[in-house]
Amino acid sequence: MKLLLILISVILFKFVLAQNLIIPNLNFEKLPNKTFTLWGEGIGNKSFNSSIELNNNNVFLEWKYDEVKNHFKSNWPKTASNIAVPEIMVIEIQGEDYIFSTDKTEQPDIKNVMIKSNQLIIKGKFFSYNISDISITSGDTEICIIKKSTFNSIECEMENPTAFQLNSVAMLIIGKDRGDSFRICEDCQFKTNINNNNNNNNNNNNNNNNNNNNYNNNNSSIKLSFNFKLFLILFSLLKTIIIY
Ligand SMILES: *[C@@H]1O[C@H](CO)[C@@H](O)[C@H](O)[C@H]1NC(C)=O
Ligand SMILES: *[C@@H]1O[C@H](CO)[C@@H](O)[C@H](O)[C@H]1NC(C)=O
Ligand SMILES: *[C@@H]1O[C@H](CO)[C@@H](O)[C@H](O)[C@H]1NC(C)=O
Ligand SMILES: *[C@@H]1O[C@H](CO)[C@@H](O)[C@H](O)[C@H]1NC(C)=O
Repeated sequence: MKLLLILISVILFKFVLAQNLIIPNLNFEKLPNKTFTLWGEGIGNKSFNSSIELNNNNVFLEWKYDEVKNHFKSNWPKTASNIAVPEIMVIEIQGEDYIFSTDKTEQPDIKNVMIKSNQLIIKGKFFSYNISDISITSGDTEICIIKKSTFNSIECEMENPTAFQLNSVAMLIIGKDRGDSFRICEDCQFKTNINNNNNNNNNNNNNNNNNNNNYNNNNSSIKLSFNFKLFLILFSLLKTIIIY
């Protein structure tokens, strides 16, 4: 009995740990053949197919694994040549949805910044799944250590939250040449930068994209609470083992 519980705990623990091991990257080359390259960590080495939902159409992409280059290649199908490649694309990898931009020059766009004690939660789009690629600075100083990131959310921990002055500007930098700024305001502590008002027009134009984001935000909060439940189960199992 004990052994079984331990076994179940180990499996659950591995499952919980395995949730965030995938770090995918996508590149899109329009010319000559509308080709995607998918690479990163935890994506595996087996060719797979995925279906992209666009309004009323489903576009099927075949991801062929290249052993030598350790990446996946796919072409936008000729049969879908009348359908535009979307700016934001959701691809299912190992059973989870991941969001990508098909335009690598797209700048990160912060929509909302929240602070919870020493934690900063940044929402927006065109971020990255790779925490090593992201830094948050004020002046030349890194002010927040990135703990988690996806296409549309970043979580980081500030070592010294009070060092962050009212109205001081912070930079979110992704990779070498992409970035956005945000600042603290008086009545909300942390808030998006001046873009907030300017972006209203964009928001209207980008309704589809925003819906996409909302959909995925909801998804990730479901995933989080799911993880949390698993931790609770794990915890009670461990408690049972100790009691026995
Ligand atoms: C693009 O497609 C054409 C025709 O299918 C093929 O001959 C060519 O090699 C492809 N180019 C690349 C770079 O894959
Ligand atoms: C993450 O970013 C770092 C720093 O740019 C890079 O060295 C690493 O290869 C990236 N990892 C993945 C899986 O993309
Ligand atoms: C794919 O990955 C598995 C497990 O990591 C490994 O055993 C296998 O040799 C790999 N296959 C190829 C073709 O790289
Ligand atoms: C992907 O789809 C193609 C064409 O429908 C099919 O031939 C292939 O076997 C599929 N591959 C996988 C891994 O399901």
